[in-house]
Amino acid sequence: MPEIIKVDKVHKIYRVGETLVHALAGVSMQVARGEFVAITGPSGSGKSTLLNMLAGLEPVTAGEIIIGGQHIESMNENELVRFRRENIGFIFQSYNLIPTMTAEENVAISLMFRGESRSLRLEKARKMLALVGLSDRAQNKPSQMSGGQQQRVGIARALVVNPKIIFADEPTGNLDSKSGAEVIALIKKVVREQKQTVVMVTHDLALAQQADRIIYIKDGRIVKQETTTKD
Ligand SMILES: Nc1ncnc2c1ncn2[C@@H]1O[C@H](COP(=O)(O)OP(=O)(O)OP(=O)(O)O)[C@@H](O)[C@H]1O
Ligand SMILES: [Mg+2]
Repeated sequence: MPEIIKVDKVHKIYRVGETLVHALAGVSMQVARGEFVAITGPSGSGKSTLLNMLAGLEPVTAGEIIIGGQHIESMNENELVRFRRENIGFIFQSYNLIPTMTAEENVAISLMFRGESRSLRLEKARKMLALVGLSDRAQNKPSQMSGGQQQRVGIARALVVNPKIIFADEPTGNLDSKSGAEVIALIKKVVREQKQTVVMVTHDLALAQQADRIIYIKDGRIVKQETTTKD
């Protein structure tokens, strides 16, 4: 299977005062194009750190990260900004929606910097909101929507640019288990339609089971990987 993400012996050491924290201690893994991978493990095990390294949000201390054939670890900040804009979508636990903007404006904002007209951006935003089941909430501000709906706006915002890879860190963290399962089902549906690759961090094993593969991490190391059985 052709891999889109290749991680080779990545280390991340944080220094706080005199203390060194070895957050990642030699992580190697691969993700195939179109695959949906979940990363799970205890609090403080290095899940978010790994995702941030993959997305080029923070530098690695050692090791290599190759995405779509490009070495992330050796890019400078300008190259990283462009790489992220062209290839990557993020879904966070906190939705980070702009409170004064409507749902469609919050989604359309992802399409700034592309030289598209405002009307085209809003049209694409409305299409994506329809895909996440929010056609009738396009004019609502975040405060006028439920948590699950706000999360779906966040997903629409991440996906509207049609990124090749989606990184999601606890995307259902603020939701009850039923809404959480719905959000995962939705991410799965959209990324299958758009043939995208997903790496999702979750501490919820039931949600991780929705992925094609689960990577278990503990103390900054991968301790187990398993392919999920599908019914
Ligand atoms: N910016 C930072 N500076 C210093 N230490 C950090 C920093 N970020 C994370 N760490 C440390 O690195 C380790 C891994 O943190 P990380 O956030 O990756 O854990 P996690 O698996 O995502 O946990 P959680 O499930 O609680 O979100 C922890 O010991 C944490 O204290
Ligand atoms: Mg985390």
